[in-house]
Amino acid sequence: MTRATVAEMRAVHAAGGHFAVVTAWDRPTAEFAEAAGIHFILVGDSLAQVALGHESTVRVGMDEMLHHTAAVVRSTSTALVIGDMPFLSYVDVTTAGENAGRFIREAGAGAVKLEGGVSIAPVVAALVRGGVPVIGHIGFTPQSSLNESKPRVKGRLPAAAAALLDDALALQEAGASAIVIELVPQELAAAITERLTIPTIGIGAGPGCTAQVQVLPDLLGLLGAAPRHAGRIAHLRDEAITSLAAWRTSVESGAFPTAANSITGDATLIAALEELPR
Ligand code: KIV
Repeated sequence: MTRATVAEMRAVHAAGGHFAVVTAWDRPTAEFAEAAGIHFILVGDSLAQVALGHESTVRVGMDEMLHHTAAVVRSTSTALVIGDMPFLSYVDVTTAGENAGRFIREAGAGAVKLEGGVSIAPVVAALVRGGVPVIGHIGFTPQSSLNESKPRVKGRLPAAAAALLDDALALQEAGASAIVIELVPQELAAAITERLTIPTIGIGAGPGCTAQVQVLPDLLGLLGAAPRHAGRIAHLRDEAITSLAAWRTSVESGAFPTAANSITGDATLIAALEELPR
């Protein structure tokens, strides 16, 4: 089995098509994504909140990201697995090279994603020169959470919109294979997409992007509230809680397990049990 690569993203974009990207962090979530025919899986640092119970993505580091990226790689065979470089893991070219190398060599990722625009273009260029496929991330960038109290739409004002286009162009120029655009007005995301030759991957950025990415629990309703832009498609949390509550009741009443859930010993064992001292 060969895995999808960033070349497939670019080919879909060049043909005027769309593709789906979803986050995953372990075997069940990775298997759901791949079995659903999704070719691109992001091991997002949102695992801090959705899997590890932190309040912000800045709370995860390389060890957690590698651990979960490797789990997703082991649990898939055809998807491109993208490792999300965590907070402070790409502050300069040397640090970024070492950490991107760990995603590729130790965890088996096929690409990395990092947040930022013009300011990180030299880091992106160095990684790409070294042979690492890189995906950028502009607009709302969750690793800035220490400076901003909550997710904010970016690029509402003309100057901010122009700066985001500059960011996107700088990432493209640096060799990025695609760019995530998060929480910007749909008209701006579409205008940026039109001006790029590489795909854009929107989240809360409207239908004008080449692709869409969502955080899996937001889509499937695995946790409580989800952002409006996620467009929840299932309510698995409710289903899980209802099913577990029914199972708990069946254990408490003695209805579980039944013979069908149990192992029956043979006649020799049963006879021997009769001889056991009381
Ligand atoms: O960490 C993440 O899940 C992400 C997506 C929001 C794109 O970066």
